[in-house]
Amino acid sequence: MQYTILGNSGLLVSRLAFGAGSLGVGETLPGLRKNIGEDGAKRIVAKAIDAGVNLFDSSDAYTGGQSETLLGLALEGHREKIVISSKCGLRVGTAPTDAGLSRRHIVEACESSLKRLKTDWIDVYHLHTIDPLTPIDEIARACEALVQSGKVRSIALSNWPAWMAAQMLEIQRGTNASPICAMQLYYSLVGRDIETEHVPFAEANNLGIMVWSPLAGGFLTGKYTRETPNPEGARRSTFSQPPVDLDKGYAIVDEVIAIAAARECEPSSVAMAWLMAKPAVSSVIFGISREEQLDRNLAAADLVLTADEVARLDAASATPARFPGWILGMTPDPVTSKLLGL
Ligand SMILES: NC(=O)c1ccc[n+]([C@@H]2O[C@H](COP(=O)([O-])OP(=O)(O)OC[C@H]3O[C@@H](n4cnc5c(N)ncnc54)[C@H](OP(=O)(O)O)[C@@H]3O)[C@@H](O)[C@H]2O)c1
Repeated sequence: MQYTILGNSGLLVSRLAFGAGSLGVGETLPGLRKNIGEDGAKRIVAKAIDAGVNLFDSSDAYTGGQSETLLGLALEGHREKIVISSKCGLRVGTAPTDAGLSRRHIVEACESSLKRLKTDWIDVYHLHTIDPLTPIDEIARACEALVQSGKVRSIALSNWPAWMAAQMLEIQRGTNASPICAMQLYYSLVGRDIETEHVPFAEANNLGIMVWSPLAGGFLTGKYTRETPNPEGARRSTFSQPPVDLDKGYAIVDEVIAIAAARECEPSSVAMAWLMAKPAVSSVIFGISREEQLDRNLAAADLVLTADEVARLDAASATPARFPGWILGMTPDPVTSKLLGL
């Protein structure tokens, strides 16, 4: 297993992280079923720890709280060695205050997560979404109070636009509060949107990027092809998220499968190793729907792609530059470019 420092924190995390959103039983969103109960969760978590995984990602919203509860049970006896990431902000109840990032909800949500996780602290606490109603000032103060209380060790943002993350960081710096250490974002060979704003922002501010849905919900595992667009029992057949441009997506899968065949490894390993080759990416959080997928995904830990393989995948998955990227690309200054080695 490879380890890295998470962004501007001193926290050592495994580059492969287990997505505890996989844990629980029932339909969490229309078309999205989970089927891993307590016994399975305990076996899976123990196996992931044996393989060197120390970062486990959950949220109060996953499977109605089951994800945190099962993770807490499965981590009994292991907690001291483990880095727990969890989240708040998505709706978890019917009262108006049961969602969002008000000081009241953040504190309440954290207390509830600590109980479910059976722990006194959460290592990385993510704000799972934005809250257009609560001033960012209040959000930052609530987060800092949690850090000062020791209930949370560091704060991170999930799914925030880069400009709002910049506002948060500015407020934290201006008040000497603990700065966000990371952003948890969707990134994959078939979803490279974050390269426009989030990646440069993260690199400029030394923030780690924790990647969610690295396999695009299974699309990049090799089982979705032009011939088998809806494999029986597979999640995307009933819940086609994250969105994929299929024409382009199958061409990317062709390249992933070709590299996997040459390297004698799983296509999923190639998809995750491409992400781990990106300097901005700290950890890649994969999910599973059944136990046998765990070993196949953990195998990615040993795969380091060559520069040529990364370049082939970059080319197959390239997206047209978006404004202002294309105009900036058209008008490079030769002196500046030379200094930058471009
Ligand atoms: N911050 C956020 O907003 C956010 C959002 C989503 C997820 N997350 C985090 O990211 C984690 C992972 O998300 P994800 O589950 O969408 O990730 P993913 O790794 O892209 O997709 C996992 C799905 O792919 C299929 N799969 C996985 N390994 C496979 C293999 N070796 N062979 C064949 N199929 C395989 C399984 O579905 P089937 O077997 O049904 O095909 C599995 O449920 C979550 O648990 C959560 O911790 C965060």
